[in-house]
Amino acid sequence: MKRFLAVLFVLSLVMPFSNLKAQKIDGNQMKVGNIKKHSLEKLPYSMDALEPHISKATLEFHYGKHHQSYVDNLNKLIEGTEFENVKLEDIVLKSKGAIFNNAAQVWNHTFYWNGLTPKSSQKPMGKLKEAIDKEFGSFENFKAKFTAASTSLFGSGWAWLVKDKDGKLEIVQTSNAENPMRQGKTPILVCDVWEHAYYIDQKNKRAAYVEAFWNLVDWKRAEENYRR
Ligand SMILES: [Fe+2]
Repeated sequence: MKRFLAVLFVLSLVMPFSNLKAQKIDGNQMKVGNIKKHSLEKLPYSMDALEPHISKATLEFHYGKHHQSYVDNLNKLIEGTEFENVKLEDIVLKSKGAIFNNAAQVWNHTFYWNGLTPKSSQKPMGKLKEAIDKEFGSFENFKAKFTAASTSLFGSGWAWLVKDKDGKLEIVQTSNAENPMRQGKTPILVCDVWEHAYYIDQKNKRAAYVEAFWNLVDWKRAEENYRR
């Protein structure tokens, strides 16, 4: 009996720690113990893959430091709150203040990275091309309007191509971490115009960064987002 109780005692010490093994459960969330931890989603290309348009050094800071910081901050901020075990997209939709700022920055950056590719077709295709032509007259007109939205946004933020509930395309600007899903819009394409996106490569020349951005747009992914 004493030996049995001793075994039980040892097991009670070991079991809680065995539950702490990280387990991937959903997108960029990992389960650690009973708490879902957000993690930095892996890039779909290497750190130097976007050169010469966006440098490896920019990715090391923008992805490796800034994006990682938003993930780390979010995990700390949600501890003990109603958002502790909530999916990232739902946190973006329902939170406010610092939790929203960090959650949205995690979501927005993951969407931005996944919307870039070193093998861009340079132009939209399929149903998205048809919708762009219908809404903006031509791809060239759309590109000019999106470029203007990206370069004219005052301060930090994002320029988006979105569709509304009727499938109508629209270019919108959002400040800081704001995300158009909160207005019921579906994101199709985004350009990060925070200074940290271009300062290493282009210094203060946002227009040069936006010009470089066009070489990297993953139109296949944008098309998939449009069809969702
Ligand atoms: Fe950014």
